[in-house]
Amino acid sequence: MTGDMTGELTGARTGELTCAPAGPLDVEPSGVTERAPRAPGRTEPFPPKLWADAVYSRRAIPATLAAGHPAPGRADADLDPPLQGLRLPLEPPPLHLAPSPGSRAGLTEPAVLAALLHYSYGLLQHDVTPGGRPLHRAVASARCRYPSELTLVTPTTAFRFDPLHHQLVQINGSVTISQHTQPGASQYAVITSRFARTARLYGDYAPRLCAQEAGMLLGAVHLTAAALGLATRPGQDRDTLDGLCADRLPAAEHPMGYLEILPTTQPPAAGPSWLSAGLAPALRARHSGAAIFDPDPAPAPRALLADLGAALAAAPFTDFSCHLLVRRVADSAPGHYVHSDGRLWQVRDGDPLALMERIGQTEGRVSVNFRSTACTAYIAVRRGTAVARYGTDAFRRLHLIAGSAAHLLCVAAARHGLSARVHNGYDAAAAERLLGLTMDEETVLFQVAIGAARPGAAFRVPVVF
Ligand SMILES: Cc1cc2nc3c(=O)[nH]c(=O)nc-3n(C[C@H](O)[C@H](O)[C@H](O)COP(=O)(O)O)c2cc1C
Repeated sequence: MTGDMTGELTGARTGELTCAPAGPLDVEPSGVTERAPRAPGRTEPFPPKLWADAVYSRRAIPATLAAGHPAPGRADADLDPPLQGLRLPLEPPPLHLAPSPGSRAGLTEPAVLAALLHYSYGLLQHDVTPGGRPLHRAVASARCRYPSELTLVTPTTAFRFDPLHHQLVQINGSVTISQHTQPGASQYAVITSRFARTARLYGDYAPRLCAQEAGMLLGAVHLTAAALGLATRPGQDRDTLDGLCADRLPAAEHPMGYLEILPTTQPPAAGPSWLSAGLAPALRARHSGAAIFDPDPAPAPRALLADLGAALAAAPFTDFSCHLLVRRVADSAPGHYVHSDGRLWQVRDGDPLALMERIGQTEGRVSVNFRSTACTAYIAVRRGTAVARYGTDAFRRLHLIAGSAAHLLCVAAARHGLSARVHNGYDAAAAERLLGLTMDEETVLFQVAIGAARPGAAFRVPVVF
């Protein structure tokens, strides 16, 4: 991305993030702009057949993907225009994440702002292997397309995070930096998605991946904010989301989710206990493993299961369950474990390899080497109830719920030096049957394989801003 101007984040450095908007915004007392009518011509992002075409099968993936060619008609650069606007450098991100007295000021504190953005969605690793995917961010992304965008929205302005340059970009027209602060005003982290970026490779399968990744990003912001001592309220509500995006959203983006960053006068809360002080190193080490997920068949440390359970218990939303098929975790019986309502318990013992290999298939091929994984997680949501209640919007909502939990699993694995691979090569109907889910109600939206990383050909170096 390139910008035409480079500005100074004067506001943030002096404890302010706010800018004067070019024109008046209709602001509700909560700080959310009024709901604007959906942009004319914007198509339904999640048509009902996506459940069948992209969750219960993968037929929406074009054949061209195998060759790495763009899907037909998807190479148009206009669909993913670079962001224009005043550029504002962020402070260098800290090496460690912890609550500080500055946390009380929320995102108006420059160090807190920089840390939150960098460790939620920043560029953390550079893979210098020739022919590899060079840039890796805090959150996983299918073939590193990174369709999600993260925007900070206050009642008066909006700034887009540019992870590649560790900058903010003003996206709200010709706003100028002012010395104007809004004590107590709500601040939102808003997640949108540029489907075109992923559709270029994945064709009509892109909305499914984009929805998954939006959820994972929401989980990342929630987690990093907690580590910084910030209180957040994650949201799925469609009207609030549309209000936050109205007049700010580039035409090619879909609104996906948001978190309200709450102003607080309380001393900052301690970060997530399951991570203690280790979140930043875990995020810097997080990775999805080599091109083919074939981990070292070494047992994972015994603390892994407790940490996975604690991570799930800290997820932003609670209406999901997670089934863990455990093979190689020290001092833990192999078997089928379930996490639900904040608790983890074992429902079946015995080696679950046969289950993993029957679930983890695409068109008859087993998707990863389950024989050497430590465990594999399946995140299930209540699809039947959600579709009856929210119609087509259930797709977005449920992927936010499951995706935010999936990111936490990846981070918990990274904390133990393990790779965690989100892999969509699974048979959702088989998962329903074999995991004992409620038929026509529960659906698995994520399969996450976890195992000990083998030294591979890739060489990743940390990115420092
Ligand atoms: C939603 C989602 C779906 C993915 N699906 C697959 C998949 O089907 N097969 C696969 O090999 N990797 C899959 N991946 C893994 C990504 O390719 C991987 O995250 C990416 O290469 C970035 O690597 P990193 O997470 O180590 O930075 C998926 C990742 C995400 C986030």
